[in-house]
Amino acid sequence: MDNLKIVCPCLFGLESILAGEMKRLSFREVKCENGKVSFVGDLNDIARANINLRTAERVQIEVASFKALSFEDLFQGTLNAPWEDFIDKLEAFPVKGWSLNSKLHSVPDCQSIIKKAVVKRLESKYGISYFEETASKVQIQFSILKDEVSLLIDTSGAGLHKRGYRANSNDAPIKETLAAGILDLARVKGDSVLYDAMCGSGTFLAEGFLRAMKIAPGLRRSFAVEKNAFMLQSAFQNARNEALEKIDKSVSFEGFGFDIDKNAIQLTDKNLSKIAAKGRVKTKIQDIKDFVVPEKAIVVCNPPYGERLLDIKNAEEIYKTMGKVFEKRDGVNYYIISPHEDFESFFGRKATKKRKLYNGMIKCNLYMYF
Ligand SMILES: C[S@@+](CC[C@H](N)C(=O)[O-])C[C@H]1O[C@@H](n2cnc3c(N)ncnc32)[C@H](O)[C@@H]1O
Repeated sequence: MDNLKIVCPCLFGLESILAGEMKRLSFREVKCENGKVSFVGDLNDIARANINLRTAERVQIEVASFKALSFEDLFQGTLNAPWEDFIDKLEAFPVKGWSLNSKLHSVPDCQSIIKKAVVKRLESKYGISYFEETASKVQIQFSILKDEVSLLIDTSGAGLHKRGYRANSNDAPIKETLAAGILDLARVKGDSVLYDAMCGSGTFLAEGFLRAMKIAPGLRRSFAVEKNAFMLQSAFQNARNEALEKIDKSVSFEGFGFDIDKNAIQLTDKNLSKIAAKGRVKTKIQDIKDFVVPEKAIVVCNPPYGERLLDIKNAEEIYKTMGKVFEKRDGVNYYIISPHEDFESFFGRKATKKRKLYNGMIKCNLYMYF
């Protein structure tokens, strides 16, 4: 299994950042599409992708892709794919997926046709007519977009944003994968000093610490494919060893996290202690109005965005305060993510650069000031 097409969905706006990560891992034939990036690789690369990628949502193997205008097209296209390479006799193989702007729009019907075709294929390959499905799960995922079908096998299990340090979170945490993407744009490195002036559950600080120390985000968790029969047992062991060797604790990285809410600071401390980052990151309860601009720093911020009118007014007041305290200074760069269309007018300055990013389904802008 040398030339597998491996597809990694990501948040919209992060495609080029994810492609950069893949190239740094020496993955071949990296290609960006809307909301996903693919490469060509083998089973070792699947393990390396799951463990190392900071901005991918999951890692999937594309087993087949074809056009389908009828249920018969869908059945035949599925039947022709080499399912026996990935699904063992006793393994379970549930099917889920979605369809958008396509003739085949009934998801439950597509689901059952794909299941029937996979069963038929495996019946003829294994010479059995009953599948117990009692061993580990191989999740089949389909997508149909403008009549183009993609049949995938998920290898990650829980989404890759689940790093294992944020069991508890506050009301509006930023997704770990988005925080990692923003820190990539901010070029956080081993010698960076990182500030989050409204740290909530501490996601930016945790991701900044992992990035600066070159600690792979998936080092502390397991992945669905590790239990599957087709996976090379040595692949994850090797990938974990490789990732462990890359860790660099000699760097000078420091982080500072502030929040007005005592519970948020407690939560940040708890999450940071899970990745042994407490020694590098100092936290304190502090109102944004008391922020003092450091000598040299990367300042990131995910300020509140109210959903009700009163909350929106409060949020706008906070943006005004940020504009006052986030003074221009050589060596200090600010990265603020907000879905508020008029953020710059409340903040009081036009951003040096702006980039459209999605926090889940919410369209945001990253306002960059340097
Ligand atoms: C959207 S949340 C940040 C979430 C964070 N990025 C995370 O991943 O958990 C906004 C945070 O701003 C804090 N906050 C609100 N008003 C503040 C103020 N005046 N000064 C400092 N922090 C404030 C809230 O307590 C909340 O934790």
